[in-house]
Amino acid sequence: MIDSIDVFSSSISFSEQDVRDKTVVVIDVLRSCSTIQTALENGAAGIIPLGSNDDAGRYTRYLDSASILLCGEKEGKKVEGYQLGNSPLEFSKETVSDKTILLKTTNGTRAITRSSGAARILIGSFLNLSAIADILKQDGEKEVLLICSGWNSRLSIEDMLCAGAITHKIFDHKLPFDSTDGVKVAFGLYEKFGSDIPALIRDCNHAKRLRDLGYEEDVSYCSQVDLYSSIPSMHEGVISIRK
Ligand code: MLT
Repeated sequence: MIDSIDVFSSSISFSEQDVRDKTVVVIDVLRSCSTIQTALENGAAGIIPLGSNDDAGRYTRYLDSASILLCGEKEGKKVEGYQLGNSPLEFSKETVSDKTILLKTTNGTRAITRSSGAARILIGSFLNLSAIADILKQDGEKEVLLICSGWNSRLSIEDMLCAGAITHKIFDHKLPFDSTDGVKVAFGLYEKFGSDIPALIRDCNHAKRLRDLGYEEDVSYCSQVDLYSSIPSMHEGVISIRK
């Protein structure tokens, strides 16, 4: 039974104190959480989310370079010198199998690294929507935070819609009377737009940015609901899927 649940709207909208001892679900539909899920489904050994580009040097010095891939984006584009960007479609079996991925993205990996004081960190997107809702219910998590990564400190409607979809599943479509403002906003958004998730995502600000960069296919890919049933989670700085 979940005692409390709240929704935060961007990667910097919460403090260390907010996440301490909580179960956190970090959501970045476009694209980092969808990319993390895809990379792990395709056999990546683990994902190390980076809070800053400087962290990359720290890791690459100590890890065997044949087994790591340095990946990430700045303003949606692959960072120069990195092996891959942040398009989930780049993270195929052939490319990522058995590799450790160092991933630096503008908002998603920042939200994840800023949540490091949480008791449990799960990675959520539409790709694993039901699995996330089910585990939160089944594991009897007490205090849950849904952290939407957003875009440059601002809200992203696709992340908020995903948070709303999770709350709908958790509460069986009935909004509890004592819900927080964050839950009410997310729940209400899903009530209004949840019947056509791909349409809402297609029209969101970040989808437009990605289309302009030639990543149209990423937008459709990340709009799929329940493509996977696994849950990436972070342990000691590394994200993996626990069987
Ligand atoms: C982010 O972390 O800001 C996003 O995943 C950006 C992107 O679409 O690459």
